[in-house]
Amino acid sequence: MVKRFAVIGHPVAHSLSPRIHAAFGRQTGIALDYTAMDAPSESFDAILAAFAAEGGVGANVTLPHKGRAALACHTLSERARRAGAVNTLIRTATGWEGDNTDGVGLVRDLTERHGLDLRARRTLLIGAGGAARGVAPSLLDAGIGDLYIVNRTPERADALADALAMPGRVHPRYLRDIGSLGTFDLIINATSAARDASLPMLQVALANPRTAAVDLSYGEVAIPFLAWARAAGAHDCIDGLGMLVEQAAESFQRWHGVRPETDEIYETLREHRAELVTAD
Ligand code: ATR
Repeated sequence: MVKRFAVIGHPVAHSLSPRIHAAFGRQTGIALDYTAMDAPSESFDAILAAFAAEGGVGANVTLPHKGRAALACHTLSERARRAGAVNTLIRTATGWEGDNTDGVGLVRDLTERHGLDLRARRTLLIGAGGAARGVAPSLLDAGIGDLYIVNRTPERADALADALAMPGRVHPRYLRDIGSLGTFDLIINATSAARDASLPMLQVALANPRTAAVDLSYGEVAIPFLAWARAAGAHDCIDGLGMLVEQAAESFQRWHGVRPETDEIYETLREHRAELVTAD
C-alpha cells in the first residue's frame, strides 16, 4: 500500500509541500501519497487523530500549529524539544514522534545554496513565535555571534531567550529600542506581520554592507521586508523558498531514509515566481 503523508495547517490550500514531496518521490523512486489537510486551530488534534486512524505515517505541520503539534507528540527529538515547536511528525509504534527540520533547513539554505559563512555574525531575530523558535537553536549551533531577539509582545522574546539558555550570547530587547542596537550581519524576519500588512518599523541603520537579510516567508508576504532590506543596503536579500525546500528534504529523509537532491525542485519553483507571488 502507498504510504500516506500530509501537511496540516490553516490556511494550507496553497502549500507547496505536496508538490515538493511528489517531486522527491519521483526522483528517488519512492511511491507516496502526500496531501494538504486544512485544520482550524480547535480541530488540530481531532484531524491528526483521524489521519493516524486512516493509516497516515508522517505529516508536516505548518502555521499556526507548530506549538500545538509539539504537545500532541509522544516523543520529541532533541531539536524539537529545544525549539518547543514541531514541523515534522513521524508515526511510531507508540504514537507520534515530533521533529523540527526548519532550523537545519534554513542553515543549509544559507550556507550551501547561498554560500554564506554564518560564523560570528551579529544576528537580529525579529519575532518569537513558532517560526523563530524553530530556527534559533540551529543558528546558534551554526556559530552565529550574539543573537538579539525583538518581538511585538516582549514577554515572548524573553521566553525564547530563557529557553535558549545562553544568557551571555542571547539578548531579548524591546522592539521600540531596536534603533539603539547597532548594526547586524544577519537579520531574520520570523514574524507573520506582512500577512496583515504591518511590518514593524525598521531603521536602515540596522543593516551594514555585509548584512544578509532573510525572510522566512516567500512570495507576496516576503516582499515588504526584502524591499526594506534592499533599500537599507543589505548585501544579500533572501526569501524562505530555499528553506522550505531544504526542510522538506530533511523531513523526507526522516520518513524514507533517503536524502533527495533539492536544486531541481528549487529552480522549478523559483522560475514560477509569478505563480508563487499569488500562491501563498
Ligand atoms: P509563527 O509560527 O509564524 O511564528 P506565531 O507563533 O503566531 O506564528 O508568531 C507570529 C510572529 O509574528 C510573532 O512573533 C508575532 O508577534 P507577537 O508574539 O507579538 O504576536 C509576530 N507578528 C504577527 N503580526 C505582527 C505585527 N502586525 N507586528 C509585529 N509582529 C507581528
